[in-house]
Amino acid sequence: MRIVVGAMVTTVLAVPQAMADFLASCRLCNSESVFGGHRIVADCDTEESGITRISSLDLNYCIGNDNGTLKAQDPGLFADTCYACLSLPTVDGDNKAYMQCVCKTRDQIRDYTRLLIQTTLLDNLDGLLGCFGGKWLGEDVTCEH
Ligand SMILES: *[C@@H]1O[C@H](CO)[C@@H](O)[C@H](O)[C@H]1NC(C)=O
Repeated sequence: MRIVVGAMVTTVLAVPQAMADFLASCRLCNSESVFGGHRIVADCDTEESGITRISSLDLNYCIGNDNGTLKAQDPGLFADTCYACLSLPTVDGDNKAYMQCVCKTRDQIRDYTRLLIQTTLLDNLDGLLGCFGGKWLGEDVTCEH
């Protein structure tokens, strides 16, 4: 299935809508390139039953590199010092979602680091991706599951 959504503008949601559990209510799109370009696209449920929206989020708003360790940070700009990011659907069979990258420490040493993707990191704001209660970035996005 391929869906194209019209242009949306960058916005900051002043009053966060009810936030839904990202993992339970969103399906990542274009999964082979998830996290690779530090932008994710997802098809998320809205508050209206059966209606979904596709939006994208630049994870630089949400994730930082703290001396070689990925962490939730606003704005984190992790992509300045991390690369080769990919999604891991599970680690040691725990069935949780992780993002793994190679990140540099302050001393420029590179190593693998992982971040657990959870509701405290990514939000579903009535169908739109966000983090820290707002700041979603929508664009012309397509979704391929
Ligand atoms: C940064 O991480 C390196 C390697 O883990 C460690 O040796 C160093 O002490 C850390 N530096 C700071 C300022 O935390």
